[in-house]
Amino acid sequence: MAQYSLLQLIRFAFALFTVGAHAEASPAVRVQRQIGGNAGNVSALPPLWTPFAVCWEDFFQFNGVGFLLGPSITLSDMTIEVCVDYCDAGSFRMAGTTNGDTCRCGNMFYPFSEESLTNAECDIPCAGNAAEKCGASDVPGLWVLGKDDGLVFDLQGRDLSALIVGDWRLSYVYNDTVGARALEHNAVDLHPGLPRGNLTIETCLNACAASGYTIAGQEFADECYCGNELLHSSRPVPGVSPSTGAMACKGDVQEMCGGPNRLQVYVQEGAPANVLPLVPFGINI
Ligand SMILES: *[C@@H]1O[C@H](CO)[C@@H](O)[C@H](O)[C@H]1NC(C)=O
Ligand SMILES: *[C@@H]1O[C@H](CO)[C@@H](O)[C@H](O)[C@H]1NC(C)=O
Ligand SMILES: *[C@@H]1O[C@H](CO)[C@@H](O)[C@H](O)[C@H]1NC(C)=O
Repeated sequence: MAQYSLLQLIRFAFALFTVGAHAEASPAVRVQRQIGGNAGNVSALPPLWTPFAVCWEDFFQFNGVGFLLGPSITLSDMTIEVCVDYCDAGSFRMAGTTNGDTCRCGNMFYPFSEESLTNAECDIPCAGNAAEKCGASDVPGLWVLGKDDGLVFDLQGRDLSALIVGDWRLSYVYNDTVGARALEHNAVDLHPGLPRGNLTIETCLNACAASGYTIAGQEFADECYCGNELLHSSRPVPGVSPSTGAMACKGDVQEMCGGPNRLQVYVQEGAPANVLPLVPFGINI
């Protein structure tokens, strides 16, 4: 394990405190927590894997459309560490344990499940260590851990880092409404020189970063919004996929830029606790 400096430990404790406080105020918002307090006493994760986990409802078992679409493995000695090692060895960025003995890996994020479960619902003991929790008992729940390698990914798992200024991470897809925008500023108003009809994720993130904002969102193929908070009770909603209304970016059809009333959000560190990255920022970098 990395050696943490006092400052890092203070930041970490503060992050836990603020996240915990937020969870009580607004239980509907997905919250990342320290896995050690919820899923067991996890030690020795590979480098860059963050000791946070979210308990997600796992739609893969309903309809074959899942949160983690990579390989899986079922073992009688499954633990969270075994699962993370397995996914890390396969160069995946996310690892999830379910059903006590099964591990799944992935990089690809849509469609998101509609709700995360409360972490207490991911309560099945891991087959290989009863002190750790490996998923949910009455619903198909999955503990998901992430690796923060400092790269900026899109929904399809493509690395856009080389094109992007600033330390951004993908968050979720949030609802938005014309006339009551979730993010206050239209990037075109902030940067009148931005070409219309040519939006990419990188143009949007770079425009918002240049204006000092910590949240950037793409919507409806060609719209980019920036802000430091989400307004009008915007909240995570089921992700849009090409079959459910996702739109390719006007400036690069390989990238997705939200959909109708669907804002695809990226955040920088410093964004408020109710706008969390899908894979948490590392605590030791
Ligand atoms: C966690 O496990 C380590 C050894 O693996 C042990 O030293 C430590 O006391 C444990 N912590 C708790 C809170 O159980
Ligand atoms: C998001 O959806 C919630 C719940 O339906 C609604 O109350 C809120 O006004 C919506 N916000 C935006 C920005 O669309
Ligand atoms: C769109 O933006 C790219 C750079 O992101 C640029 O190379 C291209 O010329 C632009 N196209 C138009 C039509 O503005």
